[in-house]
Amino acid sequence: MRITMIGSGYVGLVSGACFADFGHDVVCVDKDQKKIDALHAGRMPIYEPGLDALVASNVKAGRLAFTTDLTDAVAEADVVFIAVGTPSRRGDGHADLSYVHAAAADIARAIKGYTVVITKSTVPVGTGDDVERIIGETNPEAEFAVVSNPEFLREGAAIGDFKRPDRIVVGTEDARAEEVMREVYRPLFINKSPMLFMSRRTAELTKYAANAFLATKITFINEIADLCEKVGADVQGVSRGIGLDNRIGAKFLHAGPGYGGSCFPKDTLALLKTAQDSGVPQRIVESVVAVNDARKRAMGRKVIDALGGEVRKKTIAVLGLTFKPNTDDMRDSPAIDVIRVLQDNGAIVRATDPEGEEQARLVLENVEYCSGAYDAMEGADAAVIVTEWDAYRALDFARAKSIMKSPVLVDLRNIYPRDQVENAGFSYTAVGR
Ligand code: UDX
Repeated sequence: MRITMIGSGYVGLVSGACFADFGHDVVCVDKDQKKIDALHAGRMPIYEPGLDALVASNVKAGRLAFTTDLTDAVAEADVVFIAVGTPSRRGDGHADLSYVHAAAADIARAIKGYTVVITKSTVPVGTGDDVERIIGETNPEAEFAVVSNPEFLREGAAIGDFKRPDRIVVGTEDARAEEVMREVYRPLFINKSPMLFMSRRTAELTKYAANAFLATKITFINEIADLCEKVGADVQGVSRGIGLDNRIGAKFLHAGPGYGGSCFPKDTLALLKTAQDSGVPQRIVESVVAVNDARKRAMGRKVIDALGGEVRKKTIAVLGLTFKPNTDDMRDSPAIDVIRVLQDNGAIVRATDPEGEEQARLVLENVEYCSGAYDAMEGADAAVIVTEWDAYRALDFARAKSIMKSPVLVDLRNIYPRDQVENAGFSYTAVGR
């Protein structure tokens, strides 16, 4: 199979490299010459564990190439994936589809022979119809089918998720396109990953429903955590107690500072827009969005409370800035709100993150960046764990106590047993315990 990826960002690059690893011939296209140059030089535009090695070996094997030349890449392809960005449109929260529409028109002009065009970007219901119309109008001669094939990759675990998916969702009712999609994903059948065929609109909505449900699960346990604090219960016990019920499931029940990242915040908002436009409000998802937004700032106030209600001129060490570990992604990270609340209240923030500093510098001002946890905790009045990087999972509390001004730990990810921290002489504040 000759596969062309339009867009060599997170989804395009990971999917392209994995398809190449399965033995397909893959070309990843991007308009950004600098990005393509960097990829040619073996430098990844994002941090994703294992990606550099996967790209290098497949480039070496001649199965993976990068180019800015969309025309040739599309002309030669059997299938073309659209994996361009769909950011939230400023002002109204709708998904911005301008890149998807532009890609559809570019593809239309370049198509040669029967080609399956697949939207992998997360797109609102009905976008497949738009893509089909744009291609048909731009090039009435084109022989093609438009398929929806949403991705469910987690940042930091994307390669594993791609190679061993829980399921593959394919939206098409065209028999010829269905055969091509089976061929594209044939290497995954040895893992017995179920491939679900459904209508294009159903596939498009499935992606939003999945992310909105996961966001709901997290937000639910976060509110239960708040209740636990008030009534003297332990949210980790509640999570285990409900999670072992198969109907509920144990995953995504970790209470924390609220979800962030490039997907949940954007996709929940886009789903609400579709729902409003359709006259079918999604009240549960509306609440989830509001509760999660408020929570991030509330976590800043939690830190202030742990310091007795006053942080003016106090120094706070923030451990972890990215929205979750194993990524450099700062998009909608709770750390941004936590730090802003602390700064608004006069605190001095020293922060550290194994991968996120470069991105953090673009969104946060007046933060002193440190080279690791102990560097950040030097002279601090409190330390706050915002992201559960492995590097913060086995802190030496005796050492921390000896360098901090006061031994206060706020663990927004619940990674420590209370006893361990308190026995080391710290005051310990967690979430829902
Ligand atoms: C998510 C979906 O998991 C993926 O299927 C989809 O394609 C894209 O969005 P990702 O954004 O990479 O992936 O991160 P994920 O691991 O799902 O975490 C999202 C956020 O939820 C993070 O901020 C994380 O810290 C938070 N989270 C997750 C919790 O607070 N508690 C949990 O139990 C799980």
